[in-house]
Amino acid sequence: MPDKSTLKLGFLGMGVVGQGVWKHIQRHGETLRSRLGVGLELYRAAVRDLSLKRLSDIPPSALTDDPESIVNDPEVDIVCELMGGTDRARELTLTAFRNGKTVVTANKALICDHGTELFEAARENGAHYLFEASVAGGIPVIKALREGLVANRFSHIFGILNGTSNYILTRMEREGLAYEDVLTEARNLGYVEADEALDLDGIDAAHKAAILAYLAHGRWISLDEMVVEGIRDITLHDIQAAHRLGCKIKLLAIISKDFDTNRIRAGVHPMLISTEEVVAGVDEVYNAVSITGDVAGNTVLIGRGAGQDATASAVISDIVDAVTSISNGVLESSLKLEAAFYERLSDGSTIAGLDEIQGSFYLRLSVDDKPGVLARVTEILSNAGISISTVDQASGEGKGVASLILTTHRSTEKAMAGAVADLKDEPSVLENPVLLRIFESID
Ligand code: HSE
Repeated sequence: MPDKSTLKLGFLGMGVVGQGVWKHIQRHGETLRSRLGVGLELYRAAVRDLSLKRLSDIPPSALTDDPESIVNDPEVDIVCELMGGTDRARELTLTAFRNGKTVVTANKALICDHGTELFEAARENGAHYLFEASVAGGIPVIKALREGLVANRFSHIFGILNGTSNYILTRMEREGLAYEDVLTEARNLGYVEADEALDLDGIDAAHKAAILAYLAHGRWISLDEMVVEGIRDITLHDIQAAHRLGCKIKLLAIISKDFDTNRIRAGVHPMLISTEEVVAGVDEVYNAVSITGDVAGNTVLIGRGAGQDATASAVISDIVDAVTSISNGVLESSLKLEAAFYERLSDGSTIAGLDEIQGSFYLRLSVDDKPGVLARVTEILSNAGISISTVDQASGEGKGVASLILTTHRSTEKAMAGAVADLKDEPSVLENPVLLRIFESID
């Protein structure tokens, strides 16, 4: 790369995040120039609809509806892919790499679905692929794992990676509101993704968990290899029952590795977590990531996991990294170092099976309120080798219906799944059982 006093940014997509990046680079351009020694030029942006009004001060001459013209423009040094989606974004990112451009992205779904191909293409073409904004918005968790905590092996990473579901659970808990009512409010506030399953079924958090697992263990874990559950079945009943047990309910992503067996566990599910845990106190749209390393011990990062400014902050941090390695002429050596880093991490680890994953469970059953039902439920659990820890029964949901809430001692996911299947088939169990996991403190 020839010496340049200014590097040019080309944007793919100019939605909420793109406009945030544009706005903040415009505002802080001089500060960034003095820190970097080179300037950043907001050069061009590809948008879907040229007629849309945009809040940031973008000259119409900088806009195009042809994204190819950005990734093929020899003037563009760094491409900011902020368009979302996977098919078109993948093609454009690959073209940008073929043209030797570094790409900065916030697109977690793209990285999850095509990470192996994209990172390889970047390396082959001597380009960087940077993605700080893809996980936990403004929290610099990617940098923390790759740089600040690089001396560590990570036995446990867990946290709240989806702000929308955290907002819904928080409002239900604080105000005693029903799930559907808070969901309606969250929709009205624009918090819920257009594809609601991403937020409500744990998929968005699972994409982010997969990226953290890659960074920590050098291995891509597909969503099929994880237990992924969302918050749709959580009722006020569960939140109140959790409260009586000294817990809150949070949608937690968990990535753990047993270094003796070289097995990794990754999953996303609503969990009961003791109110004494720091992460349990992280409410509203905030995210939290707790990282346990063998050298540093526990580190908890908390911050805004979404929104224009927080996400723009992460994108700009990647742009600054890209500029530093391009303008210092260290791009090639930093790519080599990165490749060596992931080679060292990916040590043939495999995914733990459901028969290996252990934990305690919370089970809510709606049952016939009649003699022998409790005995039948405990028999099913006992047949599966599951030991009950607590039982809480309330009558009066409706005539002749009781709500039964059980917690268990440790057992395997497999045993519990078998017991739940048997409970579903039991005539006195009236609705689908609600199964939640109980978070175990990490010392
Ligand atoms: N839908 C995501 C969330 C946005 O609620 O956290 C940021 O990825």
